[in-house]
This record gives sequence, structure tokens and C-alpha cells, in this order.
Amino acid sequence: MEMPAIPQPTFYIFKCEQSAPPGMPKPSCVTEQSRDLFNYLAQTMMQKGLMGPVQAIRTSCLGRCQMGPVMLVEPGHHMYCQLSKEKIDKIIEEHIIGGTPVQEYLIPEQFWGAPISLS
Ligand code: FES
Repeated sequence: MEMPAIPQPTFYIFKCEQSAPPGMPKPSCVTEQSRDLFNYLAQTMMQKGLMGPVQAIRTSCLGRCQMGPVMLVEPGHHMYCQLSKEKIDKIIEEHIIGGTPVQEYLIPEQFWGAPISLS
């Protein structure tokens, strides 16, 4: 029996959900002020009917803690930094729905150089 093809999602959004224990000097993406950003992202996508074609995934540290809160949008390796609810709204409208990354919210180039070569 032939199985129907399962379509790929249009985007994956990996939201860093790492928090540091109290007293830890290193910054982290989830703090008292930023703890509801993932729920905000998920609720906004749900309201706009994007869940399914777009997969929002809670992930641990993405290695750019000093620029947090961060989230990575794939395909394209687009790393958004210093997120807020307002930034999430604009990223959903312009990048996820409109297809154009929001350049001014992307991580600065000095923190996101060319991919490491494995050869
Ligand atoms: S804690 Fe989020 S990138 Fe490290």
C-alpha cells in the first residue's frame, strides 16, 4: 500500500528556553522578564492559523546567551536576538507570513560568522 506523502513544515522556529540557576554570572535566555515569550509565540501563531505549517520548538542553549533571548528560524539559519513580544509580532508578520527576514532583529554579524567548516 502506498503511503501519502507527509509535507514538510514551511519553517521551524527553535526558541531557546534555557534558564540559568540563581546567582549564575552567565546570562541566559529565560529570565523572570522573558519567561512567557515562548507561550506568546505559540499563541500568536495559533491565532493566525500557522501551527502545523510552522513548528515552534522549545530548545536548550543555542550558544548565543549574551544576545538572548534568541530564536533560530529554519530554513535559512536566521538567528533573532534580544527578543520581545513586539519583535515576535513583526517576525511572524514579515518573515513567517511575508517571507522576508527582519534584518534589524537578526543577530549582529560578529556574533554569527560563516558556518564552521567540517573539512
Ligand atoms: S541560554 Fe539561550 S543561547 Fe544560551
